[in-house]
Amino acid sequence: MSRRSEGTNEFGRHLLSVADLDRQQATLVLDTAAQIEAALAGREVKKLPTLRGRTVVNLFFEDSTRTRISFELAAKRLSADVINFSAKGSSVSKGESLKDTALTLEAMGADAVVVRHSMSGAPHRLAQWVRGSVINAGDGTHEHPTQALLDAYTMRSRLGRLEGLRVTIVGDVLHSRVARSNVLLLSTLGADVTLVAPPTLLPVGVETWPVEVGFDLDASLPKADVVMMLRVQRERMAASYFPSPREYSRRYGLDATRMAMLADDAIVMHPGPMNRGMEIAAEVADSVRSTIVEQVRNGLSVRMAVLYLLLGGSEVSS
Ligand code: NCD
Repeated sequence: MSRRSEGTNEFGRHLLSVADLDRQQATLVLDTAAQIEAALAGREVKKLPTLRGRTVVNLFFEDSTRTRISFELAAKRLSADVINFSAKGSSVSKGESLKDTALTLEAMGADAVVVRHSMSGAPHRLAQWVRGSVINAGDGTHEHPTQALLDAYTMRSRLGRLEGLRVTIVGDVLHSRVARSNVLLLSTLGADVTLVAPPTLLPVGVETWPVEVGFDLDASLPKADVVMMLRVQRERMAASYFPSPREYSRRYGLDATRMAMLADDAIVMHPGPMNRGMEIAAEVADSVRSTIVEQVRNGLSVRMAVLYLLLGGSEVSS
């Protein structure tokens, strides 16, 4: 990431993967988000002039509710002009390629392109074609950097630290870009990650990841500071990965009985959208331990921080 207006090389130009961030850079994003949150708290007009005159394009080829709206609002709260582009109803449905779409947006003067695509690696390709900053808002089963950053921000603000924090990530790791980005970022930030999943929903090569792997949810719950439940991504499942939703939920779902096994101050996270009753019971999702709504709220400050750092706006406090 770069604050180009200051001409430093502290960051690259894009945010394509959390692997682009070392510990200092990731911490700077979290600290900047906290600063932005503090600067806006109690203000009647929740807006900073930081990115006035800049244009941010939201380029979404895959469905999204919270991520798209969050980026849109983040850019608007920094006073940028925002264009929302979704593949449906655009020339993409006439067969226009990612490259031609990107060049068109560039010609219109986009300073940043926020892209979500079903193909892993699409944001990396895009970054080779456009001059502006590219932000990965989720590519296939690969990565979702801002989700991991907002999750880390939420853990830090709830539990006061990330170093040594024991985070258990549960469920459909195989299809989850959220899990991949979280594993990478959390290990950069010094947390200890355990993955718990049915063997069929673990990716090939998981033994090379900086994590512990377990298959028994009940055994890992009492040791966790954070339990992150993943959505079962049925739209990405061509085959059947478990016997039935009921069986999945019995072994890997978080219900009230299981939640009672957690330490007193442990929190429950979920990136959304949830399959209530499958990976997470409604009473857990709505409990005081759940940070699900907070994650969405924090996403806004974190995305403002990312846009601010990449596009190098004026001071946060201005
Ligand atoms: C996630 C995504 O799209 O990767 N959702 C999100 O961005 N909040 C997770 C999911 O779809 O399960």
